[in-house]
Amino acid sequence: MFKGIKVGAAKKAILVAGVCAEDLKLPSLPADLKRAGEELQTLLKSKGTGFKGDSGETIVSAGGHVALGLGKHGEVKAESLRSAGAKLVKKLDRMNVNSIRLAMANASGKNLHADETGRAMGEGLGLANWRVDFFAGKATKIQPAKAALTIDVTDKTFAEGLTEGLELADHVNYARKIAATPPNVCTPMWLAGEMRKMAREVGLKCSVIDYAQAKKLGMGGIVSVGMGSAAKPCLIVLEHKPRTISKRARGETLALVGKSITYDTGGYSLKVNNGMKGMKYDKCGGMAVIGAMRAIAAMKLPMHVVGLLPAAENMVSDDSYRPDDIIQMYNGVSVEVTNTDAEGRLVLADARAYACKDLRATAMVDLATLTGGIVVALGHFCSGVFCNDEKLLRRVEEASTQTGEKIWRMPLWPEHRDFMRSQHADLLNSNPSRNAHPVQGAAFLSYFVDEKLPWAHIDIAGVGNVDRDTDLCVQGPTGYGVRMLVEMVQNWAG
Ligand code: BES
Ligand code: ZN
Ligand code: ZN
Repeated sequence: MFKGIKVGAAKKAILVAGVCAEDLKLPSLPADLKRAGEELQTLLKSKGTGFKGDSGETIVSAGGHVALGLGKHGEVKAESLRSAGAKLVKKLDRMNVNSIRLAMANASGKNLHADETGRAMGEGLGLANWRVDFFAGKATKIQPAKAALTIDVTDKTFAEGLTEGLELADHVNYARKIAATPPNVCTPMWLAGEMRKMAREVGLKCSVIDYAQAKKLGMGGIVSVGMGSAAKPCLIVLEHKPRTISKRARGETLALVGKSITYDTGGYSLKVNNGMKGMKYDKCGGMAVIGAMRAIAAMKLPMHVVGLLPAAENMVSDDSYRPDDIIQMYNGVSVEVTNTDAEGRLVLADARAYACKDLRATAMVDLATLTGGIVVALGHFCSGVFCNDEKLLRRVEEASTQTGEKIWRMPLWPEHRDFMRSQHADLLNSNPSRNAHPVQGAAFLSYFVDEKLPWAHIDIAGVGNVDRDTDLCVQGPTGYGVRMLVEMVQNWAG
């Protein structure tokens, strides 16, 4: 792994040139790269190399120059370039190279402009150049990170895209790092401290409603879920209020809400059969929001956006909440707890109500590792989205298509909402019938926003982390949602 990746002038650098599968031809090169180019082109023309120019495929010449396959020109997409970039950075790592001249004008065309090509490459390079090494101890086998990789590019537009892609990847990787931080370190108040630091660095406003205040304010969801832990819960609020707001975003306050359960044992409805392992990732919705807020502030996007992280640890103790408890939520709705493992919706509910009542949100998107049921329904291929507003849904879906973070719409009807009614309180947090769990979660959440508010709930339980290496991600947190949220705000603000 490289210590970082930067775009800049590189002297003694090897050439990395893109080639499309149809013709295996190099793009035109500046004069000082002509010889390297000829050497590569001769190699590509020679018989029996086996190199086909498939996306991400590489071949190295005697002089150490690299041809990078882009696939068929007509099929080059942001997604294929991301994985080509990911494969390239791993190859360069193995080759012990740390400066390259990158030429791939032949990737752009009517499908993609040079800035989009650059951005996709930057995202791929940056996301693949990440690992969990911050807990390496004295017995580690991890190789120390190598000096930064410098990428020299001639095309200015491509260079700008590349820089943006690398920066986005850095925001995603920030989110992944906190997601990977274990629950004995990353408690709700530790997270609050980290957010204060992060906010200062990028110019966000950070405020924290701590346990005592949450109790006083009547946030029964956050308080009940978190009170069983010695590490008390809180609600973290990150605000991006830029001086200039774009015309299209005027009057809007977008609330991004992220489930931040730092550990989910299930509480008294305890998780069994090793179902608890990996529940440090139950904060991944919140991590998507912090990565996005960090990017939105750093990029100074001209829109008012507020990030909310209801943070709690769901534990078992004398002080824990129980199945049968009836609690009062921040918006005055009462909830009968039937299952303490359906805790995410309880903390989200208070955050949603707070966003409406105190922040006057005009639109809301929440991300949450809410149900195992969404994984049963959709697998690890995509998240599930529930939305009450076609226009907002289009914004989310468009952003998802652009960033390759796949999403699929799920239904939410009045029947589902009725299904959450309780005999003894207003609502149940979970219907004892195990039917339609993911939809139950969304139906429950619908009771905690103002009636006309456009909102989307994204269940990311299947995509927040991966348990094996993929092109873009090593085993661990994926940072799913960060790029999608940023893309959505970028498009929204125009
Ligand atoms: N955090 C879990 C959901 C989850 C499961 C995330 C597996 C990632 C992988 C959530 O709090 C939970 O336990 N949900 C229950 C809901 C049920 C009790 C209504 C579930 O999915 O079984
Ligand atoms: Zn749970
Ligand atoms: Zn949970």
